[in-house]
Amino acid sequence: MAEEKKHEMGHEFLARLGKTRLRPGGREATEWLLGNVDFSADTRVLEVACNMGTTMVALAEAHGCRITGLDMNPKALEKARENIKKHDLGDVIDVVEGNALALPFADASFDVVINEAMLTMLPRENKAKAVAEYFRVLRPGGILLTHDVCLRARDEEHAAELRAGISRAINVNVDPLSEEMWRGIFTGAGFDIEVQTGDMTLLDPVGLVRDEGFDGAMNIIRNGLRTENIERFRKMFNFFYDHNKEFSFIAVVSQKPV
Ligand SMILES: C[S@@+](CC[C@H](N)C(=O)[O-])C[C@H]1O[C@@H](n2cnc3c(N)ncnc32)[C@H](O)[C@@H]1O
Repeated sequence: MAEEKKHEMGHEFLARLGKTRLRPGGREATEWLLGNVDFSADTRVLEVACNMGTTMVALAEAHGCRITGLDMNPKALEKARENIKKHDLGDVIDVVEGNALALPFADASFDVVINEAMLTMLPRENKAKAVAEYFRVLRPGGILLTHDVCLRARDEEHAAELRAGISRAINVNVDPLSEEMWRGIFTGAGFDIEVQTGDMTLLDPVGLVRDEGFDGAMNIIRNGLRTENIERFRKMFNFFYDHNKEFSFIAVVSQKPV
């Protein structure tokens, strides 16, 4: 177990501390994204990188829509299944283990695809591949909602330093892009886009309370301060605090032309 913890990626560590939203702009960015879609019980939704199913459960409770969740991590899917069962939503949500780069779904089979805090983790060529898959499985007029980490670097050298720094802080190689590069990923796949950016709230105290409620935030901080977690928690917290002007979230609403 100690060995397993040493290799834990940042989002796995935060999930173990009790965090349920593992994305840079938190609940606010997700709500902006979801607010761009007119959901109904007939909307067919795919969430790629659904992890423990936080967004799927909230969406199904609010609109009763049918949702398929896909993630490549079987442990996260186990938590998603428990979460779905706890909320008695097994008749509208199902989950599948799979890879965003080769979705096991037919062309044009969804109205909406949601994908938060995953593209940042992929190498550049795979970002384009995943987005091409989302384009393929969406019906004409369908909508892709994404939420990622965006760089506000002065130049390429600064960008490379920031990429290396964030990868060390969260213990996984990630490749966040500038706003212009992110825009290019979606327009390059053929989407029409609308973009919002804002401060990263993943670990800031106000963002924690907004995302997890007061008790949830206190619980995460208490867990983070435990002897076995404190070094890791401090490293992540300090990195995001020290670089809060150099990173932002980017939320993108992408529409497949009719
Ligand atoms: C940072 S977490 C974000 C989880 C969730 N979307 C959220 O915002 O709270 C990234 C998730 O992406 C999943 N993931 C990473 N690469 C993937 C891929 N190629 N296909 C499917 N899931 C992937 C991981 O297993 C993990 O659950």
